[in-house]
Amino acid sequence: MTSRESHRADARTEAAAASSARTRGGLTAPVGHAAVKEGTATMTDELTLLEKAALLSGESVWETRSVPRVGLRALNLSDGPHGIRKQLGSGDHLGINGSAPATCFPTAATVANSWDVSLAEQIGEALGAEAAELDVDVVLGPGLNIKRSPLCGRNFEYFSEDPYLSGKLAAGYVRGIQSQGASACPKHFAANSQEHRRMASDSVVDERTLREIYLTAFEIVVREAAPKAIMSSYNMVNGVYAHENPHLLQDVLRDEWGFDGAVISDWGGSNDAEAAVKAGGTLEMPSPGLDSARQLLAAVEAGTLTEAELDVRVAEMRTLVDRIDPSLARKVDAQAQHELARRVAEASQVLLKNDDALLPLAAGTRVAVIGDFAETPRYQGAGSSLVNPTQLSTARTVLDGSPLDVVRYAQGFRRTGGADEALASEAVDAAREADVVLLYLGLDETSESEGNDRTHMELPLNQVELLNRLRQSTDRIVVVLSAGSAVEMPWIDDARAIVHGYLGGQAGAEATVNVITGAVNPSGRLAETYPLRLEDNPSHPYYPGKESSAEYREGLYVGYRYYSTAEVPVLFPFGFGLSYTTFAYGEVTVDAQGATFTVTNTGSVEGSEVAQLYVGRVSAGVHRPSRELKGFHKVRLAPGESATLTIPFDEYTFRHFSVANDSWAVEAGEYWIGIGASVEDIRAFAHLEVAGRAADADADPAPEPYATGAVGSITDAEFATLLGRRLPELEGGRRMLEANSPLLAMHQARSPLARLAAKVLRSLIARSERKGKPDLNLYFLYNMPFRAIGKMTNGAVSMEMVDSIVTMVNGRHLAGLGGIISGFFRGARTGKRLAAELAESGRRPTPSTDSVRTGA
Ligand code: BGC
Repeated sequence: MTSRESHRADARTEAAAASSARTRGGLTAPVGHAAVKEGTATMTDELTLLEKAALLSGESVWETRSVPRVGLRALNLSDGPHGIRKQLGSGDHLGINGSAPATCFPTAATVANSWDVSLAEQIGEALGAEAAELDVDVVLGPGLNIKRSPLCGRNFEYFSEDPYLSGKLAAGYVRGIQSQGASACPKHFAANSQEHRRMASDSVVDERTLREIYLTAFEIVVREAAPKAIMSSYNMVNGVYAHENPHLLQDVLRDEWGFDGAVISDWGGSNDAEAAVKAGGTLEMPSPGLDSARQLLAAVEAGTLTEAELDVRVAEMRTLVDRIDPSLARKVDAQAQHELARRVAEASQVLLKNDDALLPLAAGTRVAVIGDFAETPRYQGAGSSLVNPTQLSTARTVLDGSPLDVVRYAQGFRRTGGADEALASEAVDAAREADVVLLYLGLDETSESEGNDRTHMELPLNQVELLNRLRQSTDRIVVVLSAGSAVEMPWIDDARAIVHGYLGGQAGAEATVNVITGAVNPSGRLAETYPLRLEDNPSHPYYPGKESSAEYREGLYVGYRYYSTAEVPVLFPFGFGLSYTTFAYGEVTVDAQGATFTVTNTGSVEGSEVAQLYVGRVSAGVHRPSRELKGFHKVRLAPGESATLTIPFDEYTFRHFSVANDSWAVEAGEYWIGIGASVEDIRAFAHLEVAGRAADADADPAPEPYATGAVGSITDAEFATLLGRRLPELEGGRRMLEANSPLLAMHQARSPLARLAAKVLRSLIARSERKGKPDLNLYFLYNMPFRAIGKMTNGAVSMEMVDSIVTMVNGRHLAGLGGIISGFFRGARTGKRLAAELAESGRRPTPSTDSVRTGA
């Protein structure tokens, strides 16, 4: 029996014991939260203060602590959002060391194009099943941060620029994962939309925008899918670190949404252990050794933290353990999982252009397959989400087995950029021999990585130049794109058709070929806007926040909310995607319950349409975007078939967050209800009179630009008015650094040695980028604060030593060095003592199961 199996057996015996104990005690309630909590309260009595404090931080990179004496086992946590990354050997959280083979599903950015919640739930089930098979208790995902800018390095891991779509899909994942016994851990809560200074940046955002844009997706997940855990983000939100932010963790998450699970910090994202416990942060990950436990003990001793406060968080840990059911583990069929990955990728392909119906290609069409991505697919992003796939399809092999006649393959360009005449002219020759060119273009691994934001939205120049050259010899070019986020397409006229496969996971190449041959009719619709130029994006002037704060000056006007309100033309609107068939919409009728309309497949092949419901306000009232997604329905129709659909209204349809009343409100008045095939392609609309609170535009604090959506040059004063407070000071010039300053700020440090270290770090990063292999360790170091050295070294570096490191960086070398040395010995002594005490309490006699679980 493995230790995990014995835990499973223990869990089953415990559950049986608990259930018979409840019956004996006259409690007939089913196993539920109340019963769990009762046992928990008693369990805390059995723990020593040190055990309680120690439970609130990890034992290792991926494991929590156990207290076998009271039946509390350790949990295994693993990334991630699109496949399980159960690490083998030594653990790291950046996807650097190897992991067990697991199905690599399309990333969230891809799945979002499917607009299919039931598919998201199936992915969740598949992830949950693999997690259980691999002994993983907590799956660290899905990621549902809002795509504020197309540049965010982790956009490939997130769903959309829209909170409603993100929330609905993420809820599907969570339900699916948790149906298999594991816990999901939606992340990163909250307002974590840039990688630059990701652990040392303050997201400065007004309350209304925070609620409506950045929190609503999490709200939907919590209310609809009850995740057992949630991951707090690295950043601060309005001046307070997310893991110790009482407004986020207590007022909103727990009190308003009713979340009763555990809040787990992002890896190294915890700041002050005491503040976290007080605010609602349950578990600090990975392991700071016993250093955080020591801080909590000291706080209790000093009287600034009560044992009762500690007990609340310990109870949450117990509840998390109790809610995970490892007994559901079963053998997973890897081939069936691969096929699901293909179906998901198929449903997520977006046909962006198809002039003269070039696609689908008939069997026997002579094609030249060009582009490095056809041979070596780009199918996932870099970082902690990196999955070791069970198998991997490539376009080249799939095309060889397809009904198309592949006349030649040519690499065409070097993936990492730079001109290569030999490759380009070989490609031109290949194109001349074929009827149609399938040109596989995309972003390379360095362009989309955790820890590093993009600086532009272009495809590499060598790829665009190749397209240009091929266009001289043929106008029958199909561009097949691989990228996890939006790109600019000044080259669009050179392509007759464009299939966007996004990052399609291990079976993505099969899905794309099936679209090209017509075996699959594309039904993906963009979950993000493609602006014509990066400069058109509303966050562009403010993104990324380079200094200590990231100012969300564009407010509510994120993505299409901006383009449609400010009437800025785009390349492809939110919700857009073509099909090999056509759909007609009938009139829409609306009542208080929802919008009803008919969709008909007017073409000659079966296909799926995504009908989208947008809502705007007609009557005057507080400022708001001209239209917002409030529902959608994907429907599959045979040629000539019609379906009458009703998209119901819900609590999110008409509400806005009233700053004046600090609560959600519905303004009475007339609303516009549009049904469309994209946000710009509204096929039918109606107006509806909605009851609610009298509109009070005077209570809207937003200054003028927010009324029209013209948010491109919001002044300090305007933003301060929106925020309702003064803007935080920005840091600049040479200055004293602190434990929470990022390592990248060393270039401003007083110590010349620190400034040199900053330079070395920067040049190492540049070198790794030139090689086309992003070094995630370096990105991580660059953006992390000094504090994280203490948080991520398993107790080897205490927080006192961190302070001494900072003293050195600030130019007091000898004092700093002295502090590091004495801190080392003091820390080692205390660590040893606490470890011995912990071991000692672990040896105490085991209380009877009944007394632990029921308080008997
Ligand atoms: C990432 C998280 C991830 C964690 C563990 C962090 O760096 O931000 O998304 O779950 O590492 O790998």
